[in-house]
Amino acid sequence: MQKNYNVVAGFNLIAPAYDLANDAMTLGLHRLWRSSLCRTAARLAPSRGKLLDVATGTGDVILGILKVRGDLHITGVDPSEGMLQVAREKLDKKASLHASAVDVKSGDARNLPFPDNTFDVITISWGIRNVNPFQEGLREMLRVLKPGGSLVVLESGRPELKPVGAAYKFYSKLLPFVGGRISGFMPAYRYYTETVESFPAGAQFVAELFETGYVKAQYKTLGGSIVYLYTAQKPK
Ligand SMILES: C[S@@+](CC[C@H](N)C(=O)[O-])C[C@H]1O[C@@H](n2cnc3c(N)ncnc32)[C@H](O)[C@@H]1O
Repeated sequence: MQKNYNVVAGFNLIAPAYDLANDAMTLGLHRLWRSSLCRTAARLAPSRGKLLDVATGTGDVILGILKVRGDLHITGVDPSEGMLQVAREKLDKKASLHASAVDVKSGDARNLPFPDNTFDVITISWGIRNVNPFQEGLREMLRVLKPGGSLVVLESGRPELKPVGAAYKFYSKLLPFVGGRISGFMPAYRYYTETVESFPAGAQFVAELFETGYVKAQYKTLGGSIVYLYTAQKPK
């Protein structure tokens, strides 16, 4: 792992190229995977409910959920001003009609700027791996969820399926070069592949969710098991 790598400074640097790099690195599949999270969150949210998107980045989860659930109030938080700036520009362009129902602000998953029991649903897409230690983020999200509220997490992980493993090894060696070329900052993409290697995935991450105090934690895999979608609930 790169020593002293500053995650937020890295995202500030790559923010303008982040969406394009994602398209190039996944051949656009990240949109499909993220829309799985959006549909799951939309299904779990009550009418006129409050949803929090942690590590909102360039705002695609907010946009994806608004497409299917215009009745929700959505708040997005992220510590990277660079990513938030891109999110605000996109929301102004693509969701100005929903402006009063969307709030985007600076915030760290380890210290969320909200009272206890505020949100019906919390989403975090390719974010939890960046939170160090991630258990602090899980605890904070549990705190601000309403009793019975749902957490939906999307994250990359080591593939569960053996045949995918070999191809993935090659792919993850290539990623830093593709991401680095497009964004002009390769360390951010080296950090990505290194953290995906070491971050708990599948049953291991589900165990962390139970350990934190969530109930009904479960997961399914997407993209041949290189992406994981987790759901869990705060006890009623
Ligand atoms: C890979 S991006 C994901 C963005 C977006 N959720 C998506 O689906 O494209 C990871 C995001 O996590 C944010 N992040 C890093 N550390 C964080 C922390 N401690 N708390 C919350 N977000 C954090 C970064 O600023 C970045 O915007």
